[in-house]
Amino acid sequence: MKKIAIIGGDGIGPEVIAEGVRVLAWFRARRGIELDLWHLDLGAERFLRDGTTFPDDVKRAISDECAAVLLGALGDARVPGFEHARDILFGMRFGFDLYANVRPIRALADSLVPLRGRSAKDVDFVVFRENTEGIYAGIGGQLRRGTPDEIAINEDINTRKGVERIVRAAFAYARQNGRQRVHMSDKSNAMRAAHELWQRVFAEVRCEYPEIDAQHLYIDALCYELVRDPSQFDVIVTNNLFGDIVTDLGAALQGGLGVAASVSLNPEHPERVKLFEPVHGSAPKLVGLGQANPVATLLCVALLFEELGFREAAVELETAIAAAVVAGETTPDLAGSLSTRGVTDAVIARFAPG
Ligand code: NAD
Ligand code: IPM
Ligand code: MN
Repeated sequence: MKKIAIIGGDGIGPEVIAEGVRVLAWFRARRGIELDLWHLDLGAERFLRDGTTFPDDVKRAISDECAAVLLGALGDARVPGFEHARDILFGMRFGFDLYANVRPIRALADSLVPLRGRSAKDVDFVVFRENTEGIYAGIGGQLRRGTPDEIAINEDINTRKGVERIVRAAFAYARQNGRQRVHMSDKSNAMRAAHELWQRVFAEVRCEYPEIDAQHLYIDALCYELVRDPSQFDVIVTNNLFGDIVTDLGAALQGGLGVAASVSLNPEHPERVKLFEPVHGSAPKLVGLGQANPVATLLCVALLFEELGFREAAVELETAIAAAVVAGETTPDLAGSLSTRGVTDAVIARFAPG
């Protein structure tokens, strides 16, 4: 029995997560996958109601008992300081040391690729985003706040251990998955101290993987090349902030934020809880319209099946999602006319009876 914590979160989070839960429940009922779904009331509503963000006992239970967390999105205009979101999101990414944020960028249909002359076969790579340090580490502060002499600082934290393990994880993934090339991206021309460390580590680790073509691109050039010719990329490894930015760009290449999925995990501890999240946020403008695209969340469920060892279910689900998208059975962001729920119905209708 696998226990899965379910956190809808804010905005469209609960709407898309409800669809993920329907699919999880379908596989439990029809394919005999033993799942214990644990629904958690966490997010902005809860925070505004009673001040709770991410209680220690919940955090411990997730760590001790759960195989996975399925999280919608966090972010609500009524909590401008982002307190609850930081505690929950970083509480899991940092707190469980899930240092690899793996974001596959793959177009499900030719029609989703926005670049002239490009098709789905040109958009198929995986970003390994460092997930526990960098500018996200929260080291910094403000001095003389609100005065003309104000100083605002966030430090970019790069540790030898942190850089080495994410670079190695990217190469190991490439080797295991028959990917030929790893690009490391940094800004070592401007950030001499912090990112020269990435250069040195990359030069060392690549020697352990002589069969992999190891390449470097500065982050600005990477953004340029991703749009110019995405087909040259297999695996990209980069720091926390650049990984965040470049995976929104990647989402645009694969059809939009409505279809971009991710998992955060610790490759040295495959038994540890894994965090599955769509790349998108709480999309406040879409709340309650029934137009939020559930595909990113459904692809997270497919990733979850894959990571938890249910390979057949992962393939069945991903095949059904792709077929629905190719058939144009989508929400308006992909030029379709179905509702959030209607898209999931179209996916479920494609499963073999069981
Ligand atoms: P966003 O991802 O919520 O929205 C960006 C654009 O993509 C909007 O036009 C939105 O309508 C569209 N979009 C997003 N998800 C979609 C979906 N499933 N279907 C169709 N269209 C979709 O980013 P934002 O507007 O910058 O941020 C809104 C809030 O979400 C902020 O509070 C931000 O901090 C938060 N956020 C949270 C996460 C997370 O929890 N992992 C990720 C990104 C942003
Ligand atoms: C993401 C989001 C988060 C991040 C925000 C909400 C802090 O943009 O998961 O991509 O920057 O990691
Ligand atoms: Mn992001």
